[in-house]
Amino acid sequence: MKTIIEPFKIKSVEPIRFTTEVERKIILEEAGYNPFLITADDVLIDLLTDSGTSAMSAKQWAGIMDGDESYAGSKSFYRFENTVRKITGDKYIIPTHQGRAAEKILFSIVGGEGKFIPNNTHFDTTRANIEFTGAEAHDMVVEVGKHPQERADFKGNMDVEALEDFIDEKGVENIPLVMITITNNSGGGQPVSMQNIKEVKAICKKYDIPLFLDACRFAENAYFIKKRERGYENKQILEICQEMFSYADGATMSAKKDALVNIGGFLSLNNEELAMQCRNLLIVTEGFPTYGGLAGRDLEAVAQGLEEIVDEHYLQYRIRSTEYLGEKLLDAGIPIIEPPGGHAIYIDAKSFLPHIPSHEYPGQSIVCELYVEGGVRAVEIGSVMFGKYSKDDGSLISPPMELVRLAIPRRVYTQSHIDYTAEVIIEVFNRRDELRGYEITYEAPMLRHFTARFKPL
Ligand code: F0G
Repeated sequence: MKTIIEPFKIKSVEPIRFTTEVERKIILEEAGYNPFLITADDVLIDLLTDSGTSAMSAKQWAGIMDGDESYAGSKSFYRFENTVRKITGDKYIIPTHQGRAAEKILFSIVGGEGKFIPNNTHFDTTRANIEFTGAEAHDMVVEVGKHPQERADFKGNMDVEALEDFIDEKGVENIPLVMITITNNSGGGQPVSMQNIKEVKAICKKYDIPLFLDACRFAENAYFIKKRERGYENKQILEICQEMFSYADGATMSAKKDALVNIGGFLSLNNEELAMQCRNLLIVTEGFPTYGGLAGRDLEAVAQGLEEIVDEHYLQYRIRSTEYLGEKLLDAGIPIIEPPGGHAIYIDAKSFLPHIPSHEYPGQSIVCELYVEGGVRAVEIGSVMFGKYSKDDGSLISPPMELVRLAIPRRVYTQSHIDYTAEVIIEVFNRRDELRGYEITYEAPMLRHFTARFKPL
């Protein structure tokens, strides 16, 4: 088989700025050892997130020019609505400025004290929006999904037995909806099988609980289904997407991922009463229902992006380029979540740095070192992001895994950027014994990872 190439030509470029190691040490210290606080201009290869960082196509940019900026009933809204509806099949399509705005609206309505929301793994903003209402967010990914080095095709699947026990324990009336995140971002960008979506739907149906998808990376999930699940090998990606959404009663979406745009999101719903409540709240917080916190041009770009994302050549290149980075690291003996996920490679920081305990933040240590070594920006997904303090003795309760995520922006970096990144990581790995832990010197009460400051131990 020949090399899988980028399925596009580059027509516009953006220079990246080189810094020296000495400069990067100073920059990092000034940023409180938190890469979120580094100026992007000081970063060479930015793998902080795949969210809002996509390169738009010429047709998306043309759509920007063509956007209809009417306050109400803009033609761009109708193009957006039709495109989303073609994929989700839902009746009510409500634009929001990004994914968390859709979550905020949805959970303000269905959440609240005494409610419980199960998910394979909640993303941090989803969890925060649920907990903000007083409800509880529960993760129930399958057991294999908690073991970084164990290979399985669908490590993002939900544990259906755990779900049913949970419903029995908490009471149907206290579970306003069940959510599945495709792909499972916090669990390694791992896909969820169609079979699993169907099984979760069957349980939801039995108890009459709506099923929602957190659909940020739905097309990447569909590609994995096509490649790994029997019976889907000859189906079109769009067909697979439509089937996934057909089992759901609604979805929240951050268009900043699989709609290939820099801003945008939506709620897709089938229930009229819920859609009405969401729209009423939308008007207070986001804007009129035909623009919902976006400009008409943004809606055009989302619509065009959703048409491009289901292209199989694109998805083949996308999934392969992530896997390519993963294979380079594995060849060098670096522990990562296996198999590689869709949008990112996740380094297993616990195995990478066995001498640094969770309460000294091994992931943060790797993230800082990658920046110093080569100007590569990654993000910690472990005790910094998800750690909680015990109500009893104030000790840190760590999540099951300590990870470092290298998220790959869509259509932005070429193979040589990825080769360079692998070299930087391997260099850090080769001197891992020298790395030390960190302590937190400042933290906010919620979503602390964004603004926390650290001190090396
Ligand atoms: N759900 C998932 C699974 C996500 O990955 C994100 C964002 C959101 C919801 C929220 O969407 O950012 O548009 O408000 N994930 C980004 C990331 C931030 O880096 O993984 P948003």
